[in-house]
Amino acid sequence: MSETGDPSDTLQDFTPEPAEARRVVVLISGNGSNLQALIDEQHHDRLGGEIVAVISNQPDAHGLKRARDAGIDAVALPHREYDSREAYDGALIKVIERHEPDLVVLAGFMRILTPRFVQRFLGRLINIHPSLLPAYQGLNTHARALADGVAEHGCSVHFVTEELDGGPVLLQAVVEVAEGETEESLKEKVHAREHLIYPIAVKWCLEGRLQFADDGARFDGTPLPAQGLRMSHADAAEELDEDQEL
Ligand code: GRF
Repeated sequence: MSETGDPSDTLQDFTPEPAEARRVVVLISGNGSNLQALIDEQHHDRLGGEIVAVISNQPDAHGLKRARDAGIDAVALPHREYDSREAYDGALIKVIERHEPDLVVLAGFMRILTPRFVQRFLGRLINIHPSLLPAYQGLNTHARALADGVAEHGCSVHFVTEELDGGPVLLQAVVEVAEGETEESLKEKVHAREHLIYPIAVKWCLEGRLQFADDGARFDGTPLPAQGLRMSHADAAEELDEDQEL
Protein backbone atom coordinates (compact mmCIF):
# COMPACT_ATOMS: atom_id res chain seq x y z
CA MET A 1 0.00 0.00 0.00
CA SER A 2 1.38 3.46 -0.81
CA GLU A 3 2.25 5.73 2.04
CA THR A 4 0.44 8.63 0.43
CA GLY A 5 -2.79 6.74 1.01
CA ASP A 6 -3.62 6.47 -2.66
CA PRO A 7 -7.39 5.85 -2.64
CA SER A 8 -7.07 3.19 -5.32
CA ASP A 9 -5.31 1.09 -2.69
CA THR A 10 -8.20 1.03 -0.30
CA LEU A 11 -10.86 -1.63 -0.22
CA GLN A 12 -13.58 1.01 -0.29
CA ASP A 13 -12.55 1.99 -3.77
CA PHE A 14 -12.36 -1.55 -5.02
CA THR A 15 -14.88 -2.09 -7.79
CA PRO A 16 -15.58 -5.75 -8.46
CA GLU A 17 -15.82 -6.85 -12.08
CA PRO A 18 -19.51 -6.78 -13.00
CA ALA A 19 -20.92 -10.29 -13.42
CA GLU A 20 -21.48 -11.03 -17.07
CA ALA A 21 -25.10 -10.56 -18.11
CA ARG A 22 -26.93 -13.75 -18.92
CA ARG A 23 -27.42 -14.00 -22.67
CA VAL A 24 -30.75 -14.57 -24.39
CA VAL A 25 -31.45 -15.39 -28.03
CA VAL A 26 -35.07 -15.00 -29.19
CA LEU A 27 -36.52 -16.81 -32.22
CA ILE A 28 -39.55 -15.34 -33.96
CA SER A 29 -41.56 -15.65 -37.17
CA GLY A 30 -43.94 -12.72 -37.05
CA ASN A 31 -45.25 -9.76 -35.13
CA GLY A 32 -43.09 -10.23 -32.07
CA SER A 33 -45.36 -8.74 -29.43
CA ASN A 34 -43.94 -11.20 -26.90
CA LEU A 35 -40.46 -10.18 -27.98
CA GLN A 36 -41.50 -6.57 -27.35
CA ALA A 37 -42.64 -7.47 -23.83
CA LEU A 38 -39.19 -8.96 -23.19
CA ILE A 39 -37.44 -5.92 -24.67
CA ASP A 40 -39.53 -3.61 -22.48
CA GLU A 41 -38.55 -5.53 -19.35
CA GLN A 42 -34.92 -5.44 -20.39
CA HIS A 43 -35.14 -1.67 -20.77
CA HIS A 44 -36.40 -1.49 -17.19
CA ASP A 45 -33.57 -3.76 -16.04
CA ARG A 46 -36.05 -6.40 -15.03
CA LEU A 47 -35.26 -9.23 -17.42
CA GLY A 48 -32.28 -10.60 -15.53
CA GLY A 49 -30.23 -10.74 -18.72
CA GLU A 50 -29.70 -9.31 -22.13
CA ILE A 51 -31.30 -10.19 -25.46
CA VAL A 52 -28.21 -10.51 -27.63
CA ALA A 53 -29.90 -11.56 -30.87
CA VAL A 54 -33.29 -12.03 -32.49
CA ILE A 55 -33.51 -14.53 -35.32
CA SER A 56 -36.44 -14.95 -37.70
CA ASN A 57 -37.12 -17.56 -40.36
CA GLN A 58 -39.35 -14.94 -42.05
CA PRO A 59 -37.21 -12.10 -43.38
CA ASP A 60 -40.07 -9.60 -43.29
CA ALA A 61 -41.18 -10.37 -39.72
CA HIS A 62 -42.15 -7.20 -37.88
CA GLY A 63 -40.31 -8.52 -34.83
CA LEU A 64 -36.99 -7.97 -36.62
CA LYS A 65 -37.78 -4.26 -36.81
CA ARG A 66 -38.63 -4.27 -33.10
CA ALA A 67 -35.20 -5.79 -32.43
CA ARG A 68 -33.35 -3.29 -34.63
CA ASP A 69 -35.23 -0.39 -33.03
CA ALA A 70 -34.02 -1.64 -29.65
CA GLY A 71 -30.44 -1.91 -30.89
CA ILE A 72 -30.45 -5.70 -30.83
CA ASP A 73 -28.73 -7.81 -33.46
CA ALA A 74 -31.56 -8.86 -35.84
CA VAL A 75 -30.88 -11.84 -38.08
CA ALA A 76 -33.07 -13.10 -40.94
CA LEU A 77 -32.46 -16.78 -41.66
CA PRO A 78 -35.07 -17.74 -44.29
CA HIS A 79 -35.99 -21.42 -44.12
CA ARG A 80 -36.88 -21.36 -47.83
CA GLU A 81 -33.20 -21.25 -48.69
CA TYR A 82 -32.63 -24.71 -47.22
CA ASP A 83 -33.49 -28.09 -48.75
CA SER A 84 -34.54 -29.83 -45.59
CA ARG A 85 -35.59 -29.26 -42.02
CA GLU A 86 -32.32 -30.85 -40.88
CA ALA A 87 -30.24 -28.48 -43.02
CA TYR A 88 -32.15 -25.46 -41.77
CA ASP A 89 -31.92 -26.42 -38.12
CA GLY A 90 -28.20 -27.13 -38.56
CA ALA A 91 -27.70 -23.58 -39.86
CA LEU A 92 -29.90 -22.19 -37.10
CA ILE A 93 -27.86 -23.97 -34.43
CA LYS A 94 -24.71 -22.36 -35.82
CA VAL A 95 -26.17 -18.85 -35.82
CA ILE A 96 -27.56 -19.28 -32.30
CA GLU A 97 -24.32 -20.68 -30.90
CA ARG A 98 -22.34 -17.77 -32.26
CA HIS A 99 -24.23 -15.69 -29.69
CA GLU A 100 -23.40 -18.07 -26.80
CA PRO A 101 -26.86 -17.97 -25.22
CA ASP A 102 -27.73 -19.08 -21.72
CA LEU A 103 -31.36 -19.29 -22.82
CA VAL A 104 -33.10 -19.68 -26.18
CA VAL A 105 -36.61 -18.23 -26.20
CA LEU A 106 -39.19 -19.18 -28.81
CA ALA A 107 -41.62 -16.29 -29.20
CA GLY A 108 -43.99 -17.17 -32.01
CA PHE A 109 -41.38 -19.19 -33.93
CA MET A 110 -43.65 -21.11 -36.28
CA ARG A 111 -41.42 -24.07 -37.09
CA ILE A 112 -41.37 -27.66 -35.94
CA LEU A 113 -37.90 -28.27 -34.56
CA THR A 114 -35.77 -31.32 -35.32
CA PRO A 115 -34.76 -33.64 -32.45
CA ARG A 116 -31.15 -32.58 -33.03
CA PHE A 117 -32.05 -28.94 -32.42
CA VAL A 118 -34.09 -29.72 -29.32
CA GLN A 119 -31.35 -31.93 -27.86
CA ARG A 120 -28.74 -29.24 -28.47
CA PHE A 121 -30.57 -26.72 -26.32
CA LEU A 122 -32.51 -29.03 -24.00
CA GLY A 123 -33.08 -27.41 -20.62
CA ARG A 124 -32.37 -23.90 -21.91
CA LEU A 125 -35.04 -23.76 -24.61
CA ILE A 126 -38.49 -22.40 -23.73
CA ASN A 127 -41.69 -21.62 -25.62
CA ILE A 128 -44.96 -19.84 -25.00
CA HIS A 129 -48.15 -21.49 -26.18
CA PRO A 130 -51.65 -19.97 -26.28
CA SER A 131 -53.53 -22.58 -24.23
CA LEU A 132 -53.55 -24.17 -20.81
CA LEU A 133 -51.38 -27.14 -21.75
CA PRO A 134 -51.81 -30.06 -22.06
CA ALA A 135 -55.12 -28.83 -23.52
CA TYR A 136 -55.03 -27.65 -27.13
CA GLN A 137 -51.55 -28.49 -28.29
CA GLY A 138 -50.96 -27.35 -31.87
CA LEU A 139 -52.67 -24.58 -33.82
CA ASN A 140 -56.00 -22.67 -33.65
CA THR A 141 -56.16 -22.96 -29.89
CA HIS A 142 -58.64 -20.12 -29.31
CA ALA A 143 -61.15 -21.36 -31.89
CA ARG A 144 -60.95 -24.89 -30.52
CA ALA A 145 -61.41 -23.74 -26.94
CA LEU A 146 -64.44 -21.65 -27.91
CA ALA A 147 -65.95 -24.50 -29.93
CA ASP A 148 -65.67 -26.73 -26.86
CA GLY A 149 -67.38 -24.12 -24.70
CA VAL A 150 -64.68 -24.18 -22.03
CA ALA A 151 -64.99 -21.84 -19.06
CA GLU A 152 -61.25 -21.28 -18.77
CA HIS A 153 -58.50 -20.82 -21.31
CA GLY A 154 -55.07 -19.21 -21.15
CA CYS A 155 -51.40 -19.58 -21.99
CA SER A 156 -48.44 -21.66 -20.89
CA VAL A 157 -44.68 -21.28 -20.84
CA HIS A 158 -42.91 -24.61 -21.10
CA PHE A 159 -39.52 -26.20 -21.66
CA VAL A 160 -39.27 -27.51 -25.19
CA THR A 161 -38.77 -31.23 -25.62
CA GLU A 162 -39.12 -33.44 -28.68
CA GLU A 163 -42.85 -33.78 -28.07
CA LEU A 164 -44.58 -30.83 -29.77
CA ASP A 165 -46.04 -28.52 -27.08
CA GLY A 166 -45.46 -31.38 -24.65
CA GLY A 167 -42.50 -30.31 -22.49
CA PRO A 168 -42.76 -29.56 -18.75
CA VAL A 169 -44.91 -26.51 -18.02
CA LEU A 170 -43.33 -23.68 -16.02
CA LEU A 171 -45.98 -20.99 -15.79
CA GLN A 172 -49.61 -20.62 -16.84
CA ALA A 173 -52.01 -17.69 -16.81
CA VAL A 174 -55.73 -18.35 -16.80
CA VAL A 175 -58.41 -16.42 -18.67
CA GLU A 176 -62.08 -16.82 -17.92
CA VAL A 177 -64.10 -17.14 -21.11
CA ALA A 178 -66.82 -14.48 -21.03
CA GLU A 179 -70.26 -14.77 -22.52
CA GLY A 180 -70.28 -13.67 -26.14
CA GLU A 181 -66.50 -14.09 -26.31
CA THR A 182 -65.15 -14.12 -29.87
CA GLU A 183 -61.97 -15.71 -31.14
CA GLU A 184 -60.50 -12.23 -31.52
CA SER A 185 -61.41 -11.03 -28.02
CA LEU A 186 -60.15 -14.25 -26.48
CA LYS A 187 -56.90 -14.03 -28.40
CA GLU A 188 -56.42 -10.47 -27.20
CA LYS A 189 -56.98 -11.40 -23.56
CA VAL A 190 -54.62 -14.37 -23.78
CA HIS A 191 -51.98 -12.27 -25.51
CA ALA A 192 -52.05 -9.72 -22.68
CA ARG A 193 -51.34 -12.55 -20.25
CA GLU A 194 -48.57 -13.92 -22.43
CA HIS A 195 -46.87 -10.53 -22.15
CA LEU A 196 -47.17 -10.74 -18.37
CA ILE A 197 -45.83 -14.22 -17.74
CA TYR A 198 -43.18 -14.65 -20.43
CA PRO A 199 -40.76 -12.05 -19.02
CA ILE A 200 -41.20 -13.54 -15.55
CA ALA A 201 -40.44 -17.03 -16.86
CA VAL A 202 -37.36 -15.77 -18.72
CA LYS A 203 -36.09 -13.99 -15.61
CA TRP A 204 -36.58 -17.03 -13.38
CA CYS A 205 -34.86 -19.28 -15.92
CA LEU A 206 -31.91 -16.88 -16.12
CA GLU A 207 -31.70 -16.76 -12.34
CA GLY A 208 -31.75 -20.56 -12.18
CA ARG A 209 -34.99 -20.57 -10.18
CA LEU A 210 -36.78 -22.51 -12.92
CA GLN A 211 -34.86 -25.57 -13.96
CA PHE A 212 -35.25 -28.55 -16.22
CA ALA A 213 -34.87 -31.96 -14.62
CA ASP A 214 -35.32 -35.50 -15.94
CA ASP A 215 -38.65 -35.80 -14.17
CA GLY A 216 -40.04 -32.37 -15.08
CA ALA A 217 -39.57 -28.73 -14.21
CA ARG A 218 -38.45 -27.41 -10.82
CA PHE A 219 -38.96 -24.10 -9.10
CA ASP A 220 -36.38 -23.27 -6.42
CA GLY A 221 -35.54 -26.97 -6.38
CA THR A 222 -39.11 -28.16 -5.84
CA PRO A 223 -40.77 -30.26 -8.57
CA LEU A 224 -43.63 -28.37 -10.22
CA PRO A 225 -47.08 -29.87 -10.79
CA ALA A 226 -48.15 -30.61 -14.38
CA GLN A 227 -49.71 -27.18 -14.76
CA GLY A 228 -46.58 -25.37 -13.49
CA LEU A 229 -47.07 -22.17 -11.48
CA ARG A 230 -50.48 -20.63 -12.20
CA MET A 231 -51.56 -17.01 -12.36
CA SER A 232 -55.31 -16.71 -11.85
CA HIS A 233 -57.63 -14.68 -14.05
CA ALA A 234 -58.25 -12.23 -11.22
CA ASP A 235 -54.56 -11.70 -10.45
CA ALA A 236 -53.71 -11.09 -14.09
CA ALA A 237 -56.73 -8.84 -14.59
CA GLU A 238 -55.68 -6.76 -11.61
CA GLU A 239 -52.12 -6.57 -12.87
CA LEU A 240 -53.37 -5.51 -16.30
CA ASP A 241 -55.91 -3.09 -14.87
CA GLU A 242 -58.65 -4.95 -16.75
CA ASP A 243 -62.32 -4.70 -15.99
CA GLN A 244 -62.97 -7.91 -14.08
CA GLU A 245 -66.75 -7.96 -14.60
CA LEU A 246 -67.69 -11.06 -16.55
C1 GRF B 1 -48.34 -16.13 -29.44
O1 GRF B 1 -49.72 -16.28 -29.39
C2 GRF B 1 -47.66 -17.32 -28.83
O2 GRF B 1 -48.41 -17.91 -27.82
C3 GRF B 1 -47.51 -18.26 -29.99
O3 GRF B 1 -47.26 -17.42 -31.09
C4 GRF B 1 -47.83 -16.15 -30.86
C5 GRF B 1 -46.78 -15.12 -31.10
O4 GRF B 1 -47.27 -13.81 -31.04
N1 GRF B 1 -46.47 -19.20 -29.74
P1 GRF B 1 -46.28 -12.58 -31.13
O5 GRF B 1 -45.49 -12.72 -32.42
O6 GRF B 1 -45.40 -12.62 -29.93
O7 GRF B 1 -47.16 -11.37 -31.16
